[in-house]
Amino acid sequence: MKVGLIFGTRPEAIKMAAVYHTLKNNSIDVKVISTGQHKEMLYQVLDLFEIKPDYELEIMKDGQGLAELTSRLIEKVENVIKKEMFDVILVQGDTTSAFVGALVGFYNKIPVGHIEAGLRTGDVYSPFPEEANRKLIGNIAKVHFAPTDVNVNNLLREGYNKENILKVGNTVIDALCWVKENKNSDLDRIKEKYNLKDKKYILMTMHRRENWGQPMREVLKGARKYLEENKELYLVFPMHLNPTVRDVIREELDSFERKILIDPLEYLEFISIMDGSYFIMTDSGGVQEEAPSLGKPTLVLRDTTERPEAIEAGTAKLIGTSSEEVYKYMKLLEGELYEEMSKANNPYGDGKTSEKILDYLKIYKLRGLQL
Ligand code: UD1
Ligand code: UDP
Repeated sequence: MKVGLIFGTRPEAIKMAAVYHTLKNNSIDVKVISTGQHKEMLYQVLDLFEIKPDYELEIMKDGQGLAELTSRLIEKVENVIKKEMFDVILVQGDTTSAFVGALVGFYNKIPVGHIEAGLRTGDVYSPFPEEANRKLIGNIAKVHFAPTDVNVNNLLREGYNKENILKVGNTVIDALCWVKENKNSDLDRIKEKYNLKDKKYILMTMHRRENWGQPMREVLKGARKYLEENKELYLVFPMHLNPTVRDVIREELDSFERKILIDPLEYLEFISIMDGSYFIMTDSGGVQEEAPSLGKPTLVLRDTTERPEAIEAGTAKLIGTSSEEVYKYMKLLEGELYEEMSKANNPYGDGKTSEKILDYLKIYKLRGLQL
């Protein structure tokens, strides 16, 4: 069986790493097509997880727009797919790379498996364009690897056949387990490297398109007001490489002293810095999934989330982006809420998601690849 893994951004690489190694270790002919939608942020992950792509499409351009990115990807991905004619294509999540991988697989009548299927906010503009991407991939996919019951039920409600939906957990937990098992000894050293060992700090990340501009400014204003009242606290902000995002962060925090603005961290370092933080503020999908495992209170800087499990688990609160709400929730964490939100409770699986995906592929191989 020949399996094509198509991905191109940081979170996809993190979440595909265990799938890649699990398939490879079980003698599956697996090829990686790295679209290069991201550059540095992707390479960091590929290096850490020792993934050497078979194809590197190097698609990224500064300030790339959605339509031009999509059109460039379609042609380049199709060239590879036509050459390889995989038995199965696996895509992960909801990026443009994942959408194009699924679309071109479909055009070439290759069955597509969707990893992290069934996440929904119900609002096609939030997250934008990811909610649309995952619905479009769902329409094309032959098999849906859903992380949780919530995701399974979303798919059932949309009329998908239950035989094609498998609840397998999220591969993000596979990645976390791998880091904990294989790289644990590095964690203390990393805190020292960023001079964070004895500092109390809040970790923040933001990058979503719907938060660009004013919503980001509002969040930073609210956070800054709180931080100015709490002189022992630092703000650590690993900034996404998108200049649209970085410019706003720099402008809003320019004259604030207790900030540590850094480039995107390598995954291992980021997990360590999450683990050592006082609490987390983020609009990231992956971070919302990792925080419950680490028991880190997380304020989600969005109006909607497709990850209600973290909120139900008690670790995350969906607080929106107004400066008043941001300030209010930061202050609330001084009270009992902090303890309530600090209980580690992982709703995203047992770290064996990639093995479940492998088992599924093996069964279907025996049945003659009728995905
Ligand atoms: C993309 C995904 C988003 C995902 C995010 C993870 C789409 C439409 N968006 O958003 O779903 O949550 O990745 O981070 O698929 N850049 C670099 N170097 C890098 C990466 C990005 O310089 O390694 C800069 C470039 O100027 C690039 C810009 O960031 O044009 C935006 O990258 P892009 O992949 O289009 O969007 P993201 O916001 O990263
Ligand atoms: N991450 C990382 N370095 C950073 C910030 C995040 O390795 O500086 C990891 C994080 O642990 C998570 C993933 O990147 O696994 C999330 O990526 P991102 O927030 O870019 O995308 P999203 O998950 O929102 O699609």
